[in-house]
Amino acid sequence: MQISTILKQLLKLLADGEFHSGTELAAELALSRSAIWKQLQALSDLEVELHAVSGKGYKLPQPLQLLDQTQISPLLSTAAQPLLSCLEIHDVIDSTNSYLQQRAREGGESGLVCVAESQSAGKGRRGRLWVSPFGHNIYLSILWRYQDGPAAIAGLSLALGVAVVNALKALGITEIGLKWPNDIYWRQQKLAGILVEVSGESGGPCHAVVGLGVNFYLPPQQAAGIEQPYTDIHSILGKNAYTRRNELLALLLNGLLPVIAGYEAGSLQNCLAQWRSYDCMLGKAAAIYIGELCYQGTVAGIDDNGLLLLQDEQGGIRSFASGEVSFRPS
Ligand code: BTN
Repeated sequence: MQISTILKQLLKLLADGEFHSGTELAAELALSRSAIWKQLQALSDLEVELHAVSGKGYKLPQPLQLLDQTQISPLLSTAAQPLLSCLEIHDVIDSTNSYLQQRAREGGESGLVCVAESQSAGKGRRGRLWVSPFGHNIYLSILWRYQDGPAAIAGLSLALGVAVVNALKALGITEIGLKWPNDIYWRQQKLAGILVEVSGESGGPCHAVVGLGVNFYLPPQQAAGIEQPYTDIHSILGKNAYTRRNELLALLLNGLLPVIAGYEAGSLQNCLAQWRSYDCMLGKAAAIYIGELCYQGTVAGIDDNGLLLLQDEQGGIRSFASGEVSFRPS
């Protein structure tokens, strides 16, 4: 869903995070004061927080940069450009992943990319909700079709984690790491997550919807329900980082599209060394949960197939293809 042009213009005026009086907003948009007030109400329907101070006017608690194709396209690399068949920017959507699943069923082609300002039903892994407030974060999904079945793209999600870390490093973020299989962490707090949804017969063909959420700025109110330690780029790079949201989107597309497009059986080998260099769990005490079962031990890295290795107290090593890993206080 797209918001109205007037509401978009109002948001662009308020995007600087400074105070704007009702009179000024009305003059800029050639609307009456009461029409402005209605638009401000519409903003609160989008759960965009607004500060109103009498005598000063209205301001957003934090400035924001709206997603803008004209800022993203010129930053796309020559490798990524031809792989992008279409970039759709939505204001409000249930989930960019669900949307691309639907588009895939309707015949959508490889390289279809969907980003959104907000998601009403953002999906995390293991059926969790991905908190997706308006205008601040990255919610990105990419559709790709493969000739072979899902087995041929085993390990894709690990390769994607490496691409995301590299994009975040290019933005200037250091001390970044991967928590198996593909959570992106900064100093033991989650910064970004990847959800890969693969559909297709075992013999192929299949398609993947790669979903990525990056916390750029999480308003405290909306983040209150997040049940794990988390961080955002605003906290890492400072509050002016918001001006780089479109740039980060381009960096992510530049990193992800070539990996997704070129992935085939055996590709994991090309990124294992980098994945291992970003491993932020290596040597740490951890627990892995598989349904009702819980295994505890020390993380011993990943094997050549991307399986997690956990060493128990007796020194035995067990490998895991799936499961939910959490840090344990050592
Ligand atoms: C995780 O749990 O770590 C994965 C989070 C993935 C969230 C992204 S946001 C864009 C895309 N659309 C969704 O509904 N989910 C993914």
